[in-house]
Amino acid sequence: MLCVWMMLLGGLIFHCFCSAAGFTVSKLVTLIIGAIWDILLGINLIARFIFAPLFIIGFLICKYMTTQRNDNKEVIELSQQNLVPRRYSFADLVAITDHFKDKLGEGGYGTVYKGQLRGGCFVAVKMLVNSKFNEEDFTNEVSIIARIHHANVVQLLGFCSEGSHRALIYEYMPNGSLDNYISSAVELQPFSWEKLLQIALGTARGIEHLHGGCHVSILHFDIKPQNILLDQTFIPKVADFGLARFFPKDHDFVSISNARGTMGYIAPELLSRNLKAVSCKSDVYSYGMLLLEMVRARRIINPKGTCSSPSLMYFPSWIYENLNEGGDIGLENVSELDAVIARMLCVVGLWCVQKKALDRPSMTRVVEMLYSNIDSVQLPPNSLSFHHHDSSKLLESDSSTELLISETVERSS
Ligand SMILES: Nc1ncnc2c1ncn2[C@@H]1O[C@H](COP(=O)(O)OP(=O)(O)OP(=O)(O)O)[C@@H](O)[C@H]1O
Ligand SMILES: [Mg+2]
Repeated sequence: MLCVWMMLLGGLIFHCFCSAAGFTVSKLVTLIIGAIWDILLGINLIARFIFAPLFIIGFLICKYMTTQRNDNKEVIELSQQNLVPRRYSFADLVAITDHFKDKLGEGGYGTVYKGQLRGGCFVAVKMLVNSKFNEEDFTNEVSIIARIHHANVVQLLGFCSEGSHRALIYEYMPNGSLDNYISSAVELQPFSWEKLLQIALGTARGIEHLHGGCHVSILHFDIKPQNILLDQTFIPKVADFGLARFFPKDHDFVSISNARGTMGYIAPELLSRNLKAVSCKSDVYSYGMLLLEMVRARRIINPKGTCSSPSLMYFPSWIYENLNEGGDIGLENVSELDAVIARMLCVVGLWCVQKKALDRPSMTRVVEMLYSNIDSVQLPPNSLSFHHHDSSKLLESDSSTELLISETVERSS
């Protein structure tokens, strides 16, 4: 800027000098050319020192903003890629689980170990046994399961498929499984009835999501308290969904170990091998049994003396008879609100365990019922509609129950 002004000033002094010396046409032309030259020189300097830097700065800003946009795109793409679960090598699993040091438990599909990822996040590593899936199918199935995200569903974070090693890596649930809190063997029942209702609702929402809320419909086949895990704030999350997909494809029988226990959670159509009847409603049945187990575990006494003990007869029938006769369900020391919640869990549970799958509600309806007023939810029509498990057989079957799962099941799942 200083240069420009100095040039202009110089030109002016020069012209003054010329005019003082005498004024002719040729001098006037020289004067005009000189002035034009000075102006052009000024413009040149202004363009060089003001506009050029401004242009460069503008260009750099534009370039920076374009890069930013591309970066954001990349972040979005990366997060989309994250929908495909991360693949770990067996050596990674050894490191994550510190040589499989901390065993969380064992189930029908394999053994679960506690682990920690490099970033510090705790995980549960399920080492699958006898999965005859070939690598491609396994990877495909895993990516389907990993795309399921819901607050009440345990998230699959990664997997391993290396040689004969097949493993699934899940988010770690610090409070373990629901059976540790609702089993009748547990002396202290830590949950209030309100919390039990919340757990019932959360679980129902998780199953509902698996059935229809996500891009694929997944039948669980193994709903039971052991597969409802609790996070740090005791929010329930459905675990082990989709595992049945890993087993039935290349052989006709699938091993489902959930028929153990006094009552069992398995739907009658699965036991009777009526495969055409297998649907989402089979999970609804298991869910109903879970609700009833929540109530049963609360040491029910028989208020009217009509039945000697609920454990000696089939529990749904026992509870139905009591509710139908206008009695309560024999809970001791409960508030009016708690009694209402317990009754709600029972009535919804009874609907879910109807013998005919068609009579059972969908999980969406279950959620609606649990939200509604107790007076608006009626008891199901009659007690004969309940399926009676042969409990002696179920108690005997401490290993697994073999069930024929046909392609029909595969397709519906
Ligand atoms: N993500 C997890 N976080 C914390 N604990 C877990 C997790 N997954 C499983 N567990 C625990 O590991 C144990 C074994 O689980 P696993 O699923 O193998 O057996 P299960 O649920 O008893 O039977 P099933 O094989 O029919 O699912 C259970 O006690 C469960 O609480
Ligand atoms: Mg499990």
